[in-house]
Amino acid sequence: MNNTLIVTGCAGFIGGTFTFKALSMGYKVIGVDSFINSNPSTVNKIAQKFPEKFIFIEEDLAKSTNQLKQSINGIDFDAVIHFAGLKAVGESEHEPLKYWENNLISSTNLLSLMNAHKVKKFIFSSSATVYGDSTVQPILESNNIQSTSAYGSTKIAIEQLLKDCARAGLVDVISLRYFNPVGAHQEMIIHEDPYDMPNNLMPRIIRVALNLDKKLHIFGDDYDTRDGTGERDYIHIDDLVEGHFKAIEYVKNLKGFEAFNLGTGQSVTVKEIITCFEEVNGIPISHEYADRRSGDVAKCFADPSKASDLLGWSTRKSLEDMCLDSWRAVKKI
Ligand code: NAD
Ligand code: WQD
Repeated sequence: MNNTLIVTGCAGFIGGTFTFKALSMGYKVIGVDSFINSNPSTVNKIAQKFPEKFIFIEEDLAKSTNQLKQSINGIDFDAVIHFAGLKAVGESEHEPLKYWENNLISSTNLLSLMNAHKVKKFIFSSSATVYGDSTVQPILESNNIQSTSAYGSTKIAIEQLLKDCARAGLVDVISLRYFNPVGAHQEMIIHEDPYDMPNNLMPRIIRVALNLDKKLHIFGDDYDTRDGTGERDYIHIDDLVEGHFKAIEYVKNLKGFEAFNLGTGQSVTVKEIITCFEEVNGIPISHEYADRRSGDVAKCFADPSKASDLLGWSTRKSLEDMCLDSWRAVKKI
């Protein structure tokens, strides 16, 4: 293979961080993004730093793959890494068609192109949301799959599509089920945008730290958890991205479909992450309790032993690193 990758969603938080790291490691990348949930600043920074190894295509994969098709002609690829997708759970409940069209059709279009081009190795950005409200914690990959939102339904459907294509011998697939990615890579070039009314906890903590919001609302204090607030498995973006490079190695010899959890295996409550953020950054985060957020589950954390055993992957970064790096990236400290 010639160390060349196709990366969809390369302008986003995870796809951008992955692309930056891949280029730093010597991969060549053809990246594609529609900017439906991002802007050109990240790809401009990546293109400036790696002018010879990075080609960017602006294209909505749910509408067309023509430009991507032209750019990949005559090139052999190690794999396609499919990050592109819409990801806001709440929005997906109000606009299910937008999510099904964008996430599902972009995936079928991409698969058709990869099939025509004989790119067989496929890494997919799935989510812990496919496990729904699991009573069994920590969660193994063999757990029941269950949708709790239209967004979750699209991830489950794309996994099914990939399983069908793998069974037919069209692709070999690793589906990486991310838990709660936070933090920023060492170069601090790419991070979640706290200015764009985020839904996730860490960028909302950052908004309070930046004085953009007066208080953080903690959604529920009466869950059956250690302190009544929701328990999640936060994972540093560096560890998450590293899991993709392990997957690229593993998929080389894989025939079929495999899913892997990417999480630390540690559950952390909302109160614990706030306290950690306050301590490591020395910034108080004003907060008050609010009603439970509709669709939220009490607990969701990974059993990552399959990724450890088969991919040789494990996390290295602590919750302290996650809180420090999330803040440092925004402040550029
Ligand atoms: P993001 O929104 O920052 O990045 C996704 C990128 O995909 C954006 O730049 C967007 O413009 C692009 N995109 C979306 N639809 C497209 C289309 N049809 N054609 C071309 N580009 C398109 O999100 P992220 O946090 O980087 O997430 C990346 C992937 O990981 C997504 O598939 C998401 O569902 C999944 N995921 C994210 C999380 C998380 O908490 N961030 C957790 C689990 C899974
Ligand atoms: C974490 C905890 C909230 C904001 C979502 C998606 C999931 C995946 C990751 C893509 C929960 C609490 C949050 C706030 C709060 N994304 N919270 N106040 O809900 O685990 O997962 O993102 O696949 O699919 O559902 O992450 O960061 O939104 O919430 O109290 O202002 O923080 O209730 O307990 P979640 P989150």
